[in-house]
Amino acid sequence: MGNLFGKVVKGKKDLFMSMQTEFLIWDEQATDQLSKYIRSGEVVAFPTETVYGLGADATNPEAVKKIFLAKGRPSDNPLIVHVSSIEQIESYVTEISPAARRLIQAFMPGPLTVVLPSNGKISDQVTAGLDTVGVRIPDHPAAQELIQKANVPIAAPSANLSGKPSPTSAIHVFQDLNGKIKAILDGGTTGVGLESTVVDCTGEKPEIIRPGGVTQMEIEEVLGYPIELATEDVSEVQPKSPGMKYTHYQPDVPLILIDGDQAFFQAQIDEYRSNGEKVGVLASEELATILNADLIHICGTVENLSTVAGQLYQSLRVFKKTEVDIILAEVFPTEGIGQAIMNRLNKAANQIIKQEK
Ligand code: TXA
Ligand code: MG
Repeated sequence: MGNLFGKVVKGKKDLFMSMQTEFLIWDEQATDQLSKYIRSGEVVAFPTETVYGLGADATNPEAVKKIFLAKGRPSDNPLIVHVSSIEQIESYVTEISPAARRLIQAFMPGPLTVVLPSNGKISDQVTAGLDTVGVRIPDHPAAQELIQKANVPIAAPSANLSGKPSPTSAIHVFQDLNGKIKAILDGGTTGVGLESTVVDCTGEKPEIIRPGGVTQMEIEEVLGYPIELATEDVSEVQPKSPGMKYTHYQPDVPLILIDGDQAFFQAQIDEYRSNGEKVGVLASEELATILNADLIHICGTVENLSTVAGQLYQSLRVFKKTEVDIILAEVFPTEGIGQAIMNRLNKAANQIIKQEK
């Protein structure tokens, strides 16, 4: 009886907690409606040029708390604040260094986030108590419309359940967060497909703390000197970007990176299959078309790595445990956007198998 009672109570609790999530196709009326929800302290998902964001009024701590609840996100991982102008950035920071200003002018609106010293106007809920704040101006008309109409800065992480691949379509958001948020704005598939590049501009020299849509080379070209990519030693007591220490981008089944040529890759597939496992393959069209496996999913071409960036997260969501036991994925070159692609794949992976050279 005790068990039964427990189950009944749990069921009711879930029922009370779930809310009707509205699904709106992007138009002027939809952004009017969503901006009202933001202003009244609700949480809504919206498209940006990188991935879908889960937004709330950054000046309302109660609203921001709901983001963490809906995602199951650890509260010590700060959120990026989305604004629509440089003037707005200026109003939340104590200073913008000359280097930061050059980056802002070159890449915003666009897939860049700058971390700047906070003047305290953005609440601790957003910055996780840090004395810095991450800000960006998204380059998506729906996001810009929403920020302008809401007339408040919007705190927004990616609109996925914590630990899952980021959403690049409204359907992904629906799969993860239906019943947990007020509304989803469907503006189609996002373009870049990976999150913004986060650059810490609080030190002497800017430092990339998360590779993303803007490449290291593009940033260095604007600055006129080479910069560092922050180390991602997860054992570090105080990682530069708190988000570094959590598991991320996990597909439904384990993912293993295969670092080797086509024959080596096929040998790994055959080995798993000989043990009775169903093998899924995630690879470029160049490699995928010459491999044999149980399920092969093509994610773009190595000739143009931005096609891989655009399809990566959606590809990670394709493989279901009902169909495969394991995913074997290609290792991509780390040039250009490849740096961000491999950053995400390394985090999604349980293991790397390397060919002896
Ligand atoms: O493209 C993007 O950036 C997307 C879209 C929705 O804008 N947003 C996004 O947010 O990727 P999220 O929360 O999934 O990742 C934000 C990253 C985390 O790694 C977080 O630790 C870091 O930015 N971050 C935010 N504020 C920071 C700060 N003040 N100092 C250091 N890192 C910060
Ligand atoms: Mg995220």
